[in-house]
Amino acid sequence: MAGLNQEQTEQIRLMSEWVRKKLAAEGTGHDWLHIERVQNISLQIAKEEGADLFVTEASALLHDMIDVKLDDEHRVPLDELKRRLSEDWKVDPGTVDGILAIITRMSFRDREKYKDERLSKEGMAVQDADRLDAIGAVGIARALMFAGAKGHLLYGSANAPTAVGHFYEKLLLLKDLMNTKTGRMLAEKRHQLMLEFLGELENECAFSGESRLDRSGPGVMVE
Ligand code: ADP
Ligand code: NI
Repeated sequence: MAGLNQEQTEQIRLMSEWVRKKLAAEGTGHDWLHIERVQNISLQIAKEEGADLFVTEASALLHDMIDVKLDDEHRVPLDELKRRLSEDWKVDPGTVDGILAIITRMSFRDREKYKDERLSKEGMAVQDADRLDAIGAVGIARALMFAGAKGHLLYGSANAPTAVGHFYEKLLLLKDLMNTKTGRMLAEKRHQLMLEFLGELENECAFSGESRLDRSGPGVMVE
């Protein structure tokens, strides 16, 4: 699999610089460190799967920049991102479309909406990497950071989102949603660690059987 040429290397450098600046101090688990991890795992998967490395890396870097969960200070409108890609970073139109098709379709929240549209190979690599970063030790840490930032309880609230509830409504489902063989393989160990963590937490905190499954009540947005 060919690496990046000189022009692409420079384009990736400019994109990273821009994203790093925008997300340096983001406080809900979408910070630059998340982006850097997704960048690395995406590339690892893309190499195993024979995907295009430029489209993969650019999509990984930009994947959270249009997310509705970011506040206005961190998010950019899709039009602005498109303009930056073509005018500032001089990415050709076909490649811009490929990148935008990935980052607009890869979220867990929209999985029903886009279930009939297959992601490109590059999209599958980035989506698996993003989901891998939501599970395992790092996933546990991010869920707790997110809950802390939002003022959610750790567990036990039936009608409001909780950190433990998030594992049952999303994080424990991700292992079976992996697109690639590499993703599935990497997800296995991370999934087991979450089960172990939840088991111990349950022991230490003496959850009742009911609150163990303390899914958020209806009407709460599943992100
Ligand atoms: P990503 O950037 O990986 O697509 P999200 O945008 O869904 O992930 O959320 C960012 C991080 O915050 C993830 O690690 C996710 O598990 C966590 N998170 C999202 N919603 C909640 C919630 N209600 N409670 C706890 N953690 C959450
Ligand atoms: Ni992400």
